[in-house]
Amino acid sequence: MKKLPWEEFAELPISDKLPFLSIDRTVNEPFHVLFAQQFDRPFLDSLFALADRIRKIHKTSDGVIFLRSLLADRQALNLFVQPSTRTFLSFLCAEQNLGMMTADIRDVSTSSQAKGESLQNTIRTFSSYVDLIVMRHPDKGACELAAWEMNMADRRIPIFNGGSGRDQHPTQALLDVYTIRKSVDEIDGKTIVMVGDLARGRTVRSLSYLLKNYRDVSIIYVSPERFRIGEDIKEFLDHHNMPFRETDDLESVVGEADAIYMTRIQWEWDSAEGLAERHGESDPRFVFRTEFLDKMKPKSCVMHPLPKINEIDPELDYLDDPRLVYWRQERNGMWIRAGLIARVFGLSDVIMSYKE
Ligand code: NCD
Repeated sequence: MKKLPWEEFAELPISDKLPFLSIDRTVNEPFHVLFAQQFDRPFLDSLFALADRIRKIHKTSDGVIFLRSLLADRQALNLFVQPSTRTFLSFLCAEQNLGMMTADIRDVSTSSQAKGESLQNTIRTFSSYVDLIVMRHPDKGACELAAWEMNMADRRIPIFNGGSGRDQHPTQALLDVYTIRKSVDEIDGKTIVMVGDLARGRTVRSLSYLLKNYRDVSIIYVSPERFRIGEDIKEFLDHHNMPFRETDDLESVVGEADAIYMTRIQWEWDSAEGLAERHGESDPRFVFRTEFLDKMKPKSCVMHPLPKINEIDPELDYLDDPRLVYWRQERNGMWIRAGLIARVFGLSDVIMSYKE
């Protein structure tokens, strides 16, 4: 394997980085999970089948024991130095459901980075003790740097991106697509509406990338003027001939949607951008109101990566409507993440052929 210095690696276009993410560069099988662009349709279809299978096996106590035996000799580290509820806990449960021992670090001030150790050296150290690192970090390139470090190290372990700054959240996109598919059966030909802070939310970026694997998908982006989706995403969609349009009127597009993907305004980035006010607390134009359900297709879904603040009418939390899938979407995350870990550790066949 050609070893590139980090500065050179970091400058490569994503397409040139992808071969570095596989353990065997001749086979497109993921090792590191960094970008939503790294997945193709056959991978997605088989991952979803694997997640479905794990979910089913987990329903019996024999199945639970079988799953827990699979990675009982392996250890995972969840390194989450940015706030996280669902991604952290669903990865933890996914790892434990496959029998892994787990450790977590949720604050760099407790590691030697506080003494000035570089992220590379810290990651190399962690990798001496564990077999997988799942990582959430405020800096866009931190997960990539960790994966690059592992490619240079003797003891090479996979790095999973659990959220990198405002850039990407690839495993969230996997669970989002899995959820859309479960809700509306087929994604080809569907219209996906993404709402909220599209400029600073990483989930909508990764989801947009991942949707390129489906035919004739159109995207409608709904946001305040200042939080529009990035130009780089629009270029990507144009490049892949994926139609999209932008609007600031949610109500006018709910009837067209097969999936509506709500997001919150990411106010935590305001101060870094020099914005004095806290944005988006209550802009009614970007709130999903109960009466919108009447306009939505009978087979469609309302999603949210969560946490939500006030962008979904709170009474919807208690309404019995199968189109409101955002709580189920959370649980889907655990199965998708278990599937992804199983896949990276080469367990697909043994799981798919398990006999109840
Ligand atoms: C998202 C995130 O962290 O990007 N949350 C999540 O992982 N489910 C969305 C958000 O914080 O708004």
